Amino acid sequence: MEISKELADMINDQLNFEIYSGYIYLAMGAWFEDQNLSGFARWMEIQFDEEYAHAIRFWRHLYERGAKVELKAIEAPKTEWTSPLEAFQDAYEHEKLVTERIYKIGELAEQQKDRATLSFLNWFYDEQVEEEDKTMTIRDTLKMIGDSIPALLQLDAKLGARPPVSGVPQESTEP
Ligand code: FEO
Repeated sequence: MEISKELADMINDQLNFEIYSGYIYLAMGAWFEDQNLSGFARWMEIQFDEEYAHAIRFWRHLYERGAKVELKAIEAPKTEWTSPLEAFQDAYEHEKLVTERIYKIGELAEQQKDRATLSFLNWFYDEQVEEEDKTMTIRDTLKMIGDSIPALLQLDAKLGARPPVSGVPQESTEP
């Protein structure tokens, strides 16, 4: 079953939005580097990789379903924050927005009984629980830390130890 044009359009938009999400985290990473918080910056660098891997999943679903991949211009992200807490508040709000968008794609797929897209989206529903949880937890820790520089540096060291993403999902090797 070929994917509908309407659903493919939403997925193309989401492919763009995932790369935009990556841009946001790259911008945050550069800002954290400027604040000499290289652990936070490293965390953001890995988050960029995650967003890239999300984008690849949408890209692949489009062409596997016979739809056209449409690469649109990526919006420039915000580049300045007043505090690490503000950056992570933004990150958490952004992840909630991503979840909302993915749910909307799911609603259309349900209406259209596109089971392949629904099955594909299941991974993202679980992933978004994690994405919201990660950003919310760091946001909450930053709230607890308040103005304590030693506690902030301790969190910086912890975030800097974030392991790299396990890699972009590979396409089947079947001919
Ligand atoms: Fe692609 Fe952070 O959600």
